[in-house]
Amino acid sequence: MDSARPHERPTAFDRMLTPVHRWIWSDTDRRVQKLLRFSETETDGGRDILRAAEVTPDPLLRRLYLEHAIDEFRHGVLFRHRAAELLKISASRSNPGFHGDWLAPGGHGLDDVEVDGESDSDMLAFLHLSEKAAASRFTVYRDVMQHDPPTRAVFEEILHDETFHMNYTLMQLARVEPKWHGRHLWWARLSRLWKAYLRLATGLAGILGSMLLTIQYFVLLPPFAWLAKRAAHRERSGWTMVSPGHSDSLDRQY
Ligand SMILES: [Fe+2]
Ligand SMILES: [Fe+2]
Repeated sequence: MDSARPHERPTAFDRMLTPVHRWIWSDTDRRVQKLLRFSETETDGGRDILRAAEVTPDPLLRRLYLEHAIDEFRHGVLFRHRAAELLKISASRSNPGFHGDWLAPGGHGLDDVEVDGESDSDMLAFLHLSEKAAASRFTVYRDVMQHDPPTRAVFEEILHDETFHMNYTLMQLARVEPKWHGRHLWWARLSRLWKAYLRLATGLAGILGSMLLTIQYFVLLPPFAWLAKRAAHRERSGWTMVSPGHSDSLDRQY
């Protein structure tokens, strides 16, 4: 681990996943895809923070949010430009039909915050935790990017901003909510945990649903198909004479 400043230390969980991250980032195509997704995430985050700047009644927060939003938009551009550079290298090497696949938009996976319904303290607590998580992960990504110095430099630059965002949001939370800022942080942590659980549960529900439908298809459907075939064999082909007594009534179809 090199040059980790005091506030850029990754969490134990992120450190534990370092070999996985190293493997993921080792492939150029996967790197392009991830950088494009990160670019979307950063730009989306910038939009939310811009909205927060519009709705906050606090002049200092408005200024800080605006600077923060500009930083996030810049991060989006940095990631996109680096992805474009890698895409050129990757395309010229081996795979000319590569562009369309990776440029398809993907889900960004961040917790979107409902800015309009949030108080400044809730917004600051949410932002602090998000920036802290981003700083932790980006530290690991920077450290596993030894084989790609330009991408590593992008992470290094963005990490510097994320650390500033993480610190200013905590300081401002302590300013606007001197007594209860710890409570707001815990509430934001619980909210993130709940959203993480919902994402996990939704993913599991999708897998279980697919499994159940597959089982139904192969176990329940064949007997019905067999019965339908057997019934079809019993039917006489062509026109069938109806006995005179069955066609007297004009009130019904049969
Ligand atoms: Fe960012
Ligand atoms: Fe940030």
